[in-house]
Amino acid sequence: MKIRTSLLTAVVLVNAVLAASSTDEDYGYSLPVYPSPMGGRISGDWSDAYTKARAFVSQLTLLEKVNLTTGTGWEMGRCVGNTGEIPRIGFPSLCLQDSPLGIRFTDLNSVFPAGLATAATFNKNLMYLRGKAMGMEFKGKGINAILGPCMGPIGRAPEGGRNWEAFGADPYLQGVASYESVLGIQEEGVIATAKHYLLNEQEHFRQYAEWVGLYTNLSAPYSANVDERALREIYAWPFADAIRAGAASIMCSYNQANNSQACQNSYLLNGILKDELGFQGFVMSDWLGQRSGVASVLAGLDMTMPGDGLVWSDGVSLLGSNLTTAVLNGSVPLWRLDDMATRIMAAYYKVGQNPLTYPEPNFSSWTLSDYGLEIAGSLEGPTGLVNKHVDVRTALSRQVTRQIAQESMVLVKNTNNALPLNNVRRLGLFGSAAGPPPLGPNGCSDRGCDNGTLGIGWGSGTANYPYLLTPLEVINAMAIVQGTSVQYNLDDYDLDNVATLAGVVDTAIVFITADSGEGYLDVEGNIGDRNNLSAWHGGDNLVTAVASENSNTIVVVESVGGIDLEAWIEHVNVTAVLFSLVPGQDVGVGIADILYGTVSPSGKLPFTIAKKTSDYPATVIYDVIEPVPQINFSESIFVDYRHFDKYDIEPRYEFGFGLSYTTFQISGLSVTRLNGVVDSEVPPEPPSYSSPLYLNGSVPSPSSAIYPGDIPRYSHYIYPYIEKDIAESITYNPDDYPYPEGYSDIQPSKPSPAGGASGGNPALWDVLVQVKASITNNGTTGGSEVLQLYVSYPAVDGVDFPVRALRGFEKLSASPGETSTANFDLLRRDLSYYDVASRNWLLPRGTYTVSIGTSSRNLVEAGTFSF
Ligand code: NOJ
Repeated sequence: MKIRTSLLTAVVLVNAVLAASSTDEDYGYSLPVYPSPMGGRISGDWSDAYTKARAFVSQLTLLEKVNLTTGTGWEMGRCVGNTGEIPRIGFPSLCLQDSPLGIRFTDLNSVFPAGLATAATFNKNLMYLRGKAMGMEFKGKGINAILGPCMGPIGRAPEGGRNWEAFGADPYLQGVASYESVLGIQEEGVIATAKHYLLNEQEHFRQYAEWVGLYTNLSAPYSANVDERALREIYAWPFADAIRAGAASIMCSYNQANNSQACQNSYLLNGILKDELGFQGFVMSDWLGQRSGVASVLAGLDMTMPGDGLVWSDGVSLLGSNLTTAVLNGSVPLWRLDDMATRIMAAYYKVGQNPLTYPEPNFSSWTLSDYGLEIAGSLEGPTGLVNKHVDVRTALSRQVTRQIAQESMVLVKNTNNALPLNNVRRLGLFGSAAGPPPLGPNGCSDRGCDNGTLGIGWGSGTANYPYLLTPLEVINAMAIVQGTSVQYNLDDYDLDNVATLAGVVDTAIVFITADSGEGYLDVEGNIGDRNNLSAWHGGDNLVTAVASENSNTIVVVESVGGIDLEAWIEHVNVTAVLFSLVPGQDVGVGIADILYGTVSPSGKLPFTIAKKTSDYPATVIYDVIEPVPQINFSESIFVDYRHFDKYDIEPRYEFGFGLSYTTFQISGLSVTRLNGVVDSEVPPEPPSYSSPLYLNGSVPSPSSAIYPGDIPRYSHYIYPYIEKDIAESITYNPDDYPYPEGYSDIQPSKPSPAGGASGGNPALWDVLVQVKASITNNGTTGGSEVLQLYVSYPAVDGVDFPVRALRGFEKLSASPGETSTANFDLLRRDLSYYDVASRNWLLPRGTYTVSIGTSSRNLVEAGTFSF
């Protein structure tokens, strides 16, 4: 019999049987992959963690193992996710907390620059330091796992609501930023959670429950349908980097992928994640992203969050007592539960946590008052001191937030040296985004409004600001020093008065915004995703009103991504345009530091800005008629600049573009193919798995799982126990369960050809080519430049390559006259493509071109090498 993995299961499985590997006919279907690969079977730096984890889990009862895998329910603990505790051995509940840019729902924490701003720095060290500074803060509040970094969405659709949480529209850039973030976070002893796996590229229809009120015939979240190459070369790519860095946890996403729910998609979880990418940590569901019980567990899900299953706060889990029952009746094999618990504990030990030394949460996500309910969601139970208001900010946090704010600013236009400002006598500031939000920095829940300067977008990917520095404040302070008169009008719609004022100042700066966020909040009619790419609040009119009166109009775009600039970008009076890409609490100082030339701009666009919306390869699907919306990622690997290059479309500003106050000359390109490394077309076979180590233990009698009489049973709290009558009805009979066709419990002895180690076949990380290039600052002021390396591939019959792909970047600083040099390692992985037929990464034969430059279109030097 077949297992239902999605609404289209029957079709899925028929295709699975017909096709050994994916073909065009399989498009939109997900092949089944079983059994779930057990952790701890690859050699390397997880060995020690697995030894400890096995010893720990071996001593646990069935109920205790279940408790590790299951959240206690929404708001049933201090954090947004809380696992069950194991009081018998003093093992605490694990605290899982948002967000990728700072600690959500508390105080005295930093709001770091969002992923998008971090990406725009193209500065690897800052990416790493941001992770480290965040790790320190999360640990300081007693959090075991941070629900970040976010490396999906990639941003295939520029309007995608959560694009700003992740690191830009290129998998390589996302991969490097994810790698550095995970290293930094985990070095501080906190588990990093790479999310959202996978293909959650838009907010509309990501969850059935959010949309069924408006679309009554909806029966499931959208299915993102994607081909095998794009799956690996674009979307899973950054996850491979995170895993290579040791990411101990992965969050599966809300949507369906190829018509199978992401959190029960055995192809994505068992196949790509745990086999091909060698993932050794645990998979947690996004909050209510799990939609089935046994099927999800067999497909590779290890932890359910927040514990509630199909409905928020109803106290009914798809795991919890249901998992207990499933193991007792044999539908979930005991080894799978052991593997789930062992993976969770291996993650815990991997980052060096220990119940005796790791701090417990000293805050509550559900109140900022000192005292409150310990189990807030239950509305009963003990109260106590739930907030100690520990200030977890550090000197490193302060340095990193400010430096990323500076280095992420992208200057895209600067005519007549309009910037930096030079002792302006009369300055005018226009637009609400220059000033503070009227309700204060945290006045709107989860930052769900767009008024005032824009430090971050909205949703769960946010945190409470400790302060929010506005451009107005910082510019006023500079005005005192420079003797400037600062006038302003912060009303976006008061165009007549704005124009009048603009006419009587020497320089005018207009601040406009575009905001987006998570789909559970509607902000000005934008349900997570942006409705369009226009500036908000009539920003185009504001710019035009100012520019019609002032010949030195500078525009600051505070946004979550690219916007349509066409209404005024070529206006002769618009002399400079600066992008501020949600850089966190220091947004105002970041902007002002560039305006005044305190530092030279060095940010680069981590996405392409088109001239016309229709030039982009994809858009959000806003309206659907079918019960299961089908979103075909038909652009395949041609996202962002790959699409513009392929179709020779001239963008307004290309990926990687950004100006400086100084000028650089690129020189000295050298390209060296290394000798003595294996550079065959097919990579060497990966190492075999070590033998699976099953824990001793047997399925206990159902009576051992009955609710004990002596524990408090808080309303809606999730427990692992079962009721007496259920226990009496259970018989152990695995054969009763309708396992998927081809299901087997036998662990394979070898990984798939692409697998074998954390991140994939270790040979994929072999350095095959080294490239060197230099920049010389031939201007008059110090600055930094991002040297970017793009690879063009030799032709292969039947394989469509991008014109060029980013495969290296280094940020170099140089004083006037100084030269700095960058070294790039090109890995087998960077030079390969995923071959669907052989399910492997192949290194094409022929001549490659390496281009070096300062953007994806300003490529100054080129060299070649061949295999
Ligand atoms: C849903 C979001 O998609 C995810 O990113 C977040 O971590 C969880 N909610 C928990 O708040």
